[in-house]
Amino acid sequence: MKKLIEFKNVHISLENEILFEDISFSIYEGERFMLTGKNGSGKSLLLELIALGYTNDLKSRYKGLVVTGHIYDENGQDLLDPKTERSISYVTQTEDFYRNSTLYKEAEIACHGSGQPLNEDKLDQLLEAFELTRKKHQKLKNNLSLGEGKLVHLLTRILQLGSSKILLLDEPLNHLSFRNSKVFNEIMLQEIVNNPTLTIVMVSHCRAISFVNKSMEYNYKIGCMEEREYKSYDCFE
Ligand SMILES: Nc1ncnc2c1ncn2[C@@H]1O[C@H](COP(=O)(O)OP(=O)(O)OP(=O)(O)O)[C@@H](O)[C@H]1O
Ligand SMILES: [Mg+2]
Repeated sequence: MKKLIEFKNVHISLENEILFEDISFSIYEGERFMLTGKNGSGKSLLLELIALGYTNDLKSRYKGLVVTGHIYDENGQDLLDPKTERSISYVTQTEDFYRNSTLYKEAEIACHGSGQPLNEDKLDQLLEAFELTRKKHQKLKNNLSLGEGKLVHLLTRILQLGSSKILLLDEPLNHLSFRNSKVFNEIMLQEIVNNPTLTIVMVSHCRAISFVNKSMEYNYKIGCMEEREYKSYDCFE
């Protein structure tokens, strides 16, 4: 299996707290796992470092943040360097749109950003699946509930998947109805059928997802990432 991401002696600390101490582990092509851990343990921070690098924005948001070590991509480039190019689709925990934009334009921007034209048929299918068709050309500002906002963010990232090898999902089910959580699970299962090597790291506290097959959690006592069984309770059945 091809190694897509390699954490090498990564140490992450805040002003008064060590979040990860000297972790080394790899993520291989086609792996799909849940990154678990208690609230505030640094899961979102870890995904953002992979997706965007050790940016000045991150340094200013997290007080006293210090990150050392390396996160290598498959070509040996360091993903901690914000200038390193990456083909990663990233669903953030709290989404941020160009609020003057429309859903359609957001989808176009997301696709162009990942170097591909918008597949409008696929957009229409996703809108129908999530019951959002009526919102397609509406302005996003003052027009979306929290759950609808999350769905717009999710579907723009799903549209990017044609050109991304890696999908990072930070609590994608937040604000979603039970129905739409189930639809999202089904859409992801289909994406994996279409692209079996798609690699997924998902942060969630949900136990009903069936497109991941294990979980990873940082073990503070021994200072390393530990693999665990992910048991899905099939409550979407
Ligand atoms: N501006 C900030 N935004 C978020 N977390 C911050 C910030 N500044 C400091 N922190 C601290 O950074 C640590 C890691 O936060 P992070 O958001 O990565 O945790 P998390 O594991 O994703 O938590 P959750 O499960 O609640 O989403 C937390 O202990 C938090 O207190
Ligand atoms: Mg988080």
